[in-house]
Amino acid sequence: MSATPVAGNGRITVPDIIGRKSHPGSSSSSKQFSGGQNHITCLTAYDFPTARLLDDAGVDIVLVGDSLGMVVLGYENTVPVTLDEMLHHTRAVRRGIRRALVVADMSYGSYHTGAKDAIANALRLVKEGGAEAVKLEGGERRLEVISRLVEAEIPVMGHVGLTPQSVNAFGGFRVQGRTPEAADHLLRDARAVEAAGAFSIVLESVPRELAATITRELHIPTIGIGAGPDCDGQVLVFHDLVGLTAGPTPRFARRYAELGEEVKRAVREYCDDVHSGGFPSDAESFHLPAELRAREKPLR
Ligand code: KIV
Repeated sequence: MSATPVAGNGRITVPDIIGRKSHPGSSSSSKQFSGGQNHITCLTAYDFPTARLLDDAGVDIVLVGDSLGMVVLGYENTVPVTLDEMLHHTRAVRRGIRRALVVADMSYGSYHTGAKDAIANALRLVKEGGAEAVKLEGGERRLEVISRLVEAEIPVMGHVGLTPQSVNAFGGFRVQGRTPEAADHLLRDARAVEAAGAFSIVLESVPRELAATITRELHIPTIGIGAGPDCDGQVLVFHDLVGLTAGPTPRFARRYAELGEEVKRAVREYCDDVHSGGFPSDAESFHLPAELRAREKPLR
């Protein structure tokens, strides 16, 4: 569990996360800052039991990511995910959380039509879903939307680099910021997100050197996924971490368990036991009261 103090009631708040910035504004230093007790831990969850497990294990931020579209709804990418789907899963996660900060992704289309729609949709995630903050993708072009959300008292986590909702514009999922121009653009995007008032920013699939530079330049915490060890925190998709993802996982997603294999083993064993008569046993069955069982015809 994190050693960092949290608010009086033990819950992690947005200011707690801002306070976890490792080295605010130390842009003159080239030192890198991988790891440390202060580093922010973030994982995705889409349902009540997973949320409860992650919370009990001491993760700082539980992200109801729109990755749920691919991970648990079986869509090809995150584009089809709707706000109603995000709401449904955010409510379930909220019920499982006692300590972590709950951040909900704004689905594709829920903030692309202007600040007014974005505020209305984000308010639903906060008021009906119980999220404490929202996350949205994009840099300079989201300046207006992010600042209007922040004005409306909705904390925003930014997300730049490989932004999965842009899959059609990108033409696939690729590492971003690999040329000097693209790196400059990404740094500008990250600065814009900070200037707009976001409290933290996800850097996805960017070279670690660029992530380290952005982390040094910004005063808000950076949370990396495929962005190397020098960010202020790390995020992964829970299903990748525990081996429950259907299909291949990205190179940056370290597997800490093989639950998919374990689940298949358990299900195969159950099927074998049903077929062989080994399940259920007598101990797993209910009985009539002894006096009824003693009768020749216990039931009419
Ligand atoms: O949707 C998601 O799960 C995300 C994280 C992987 C950062 O955006």
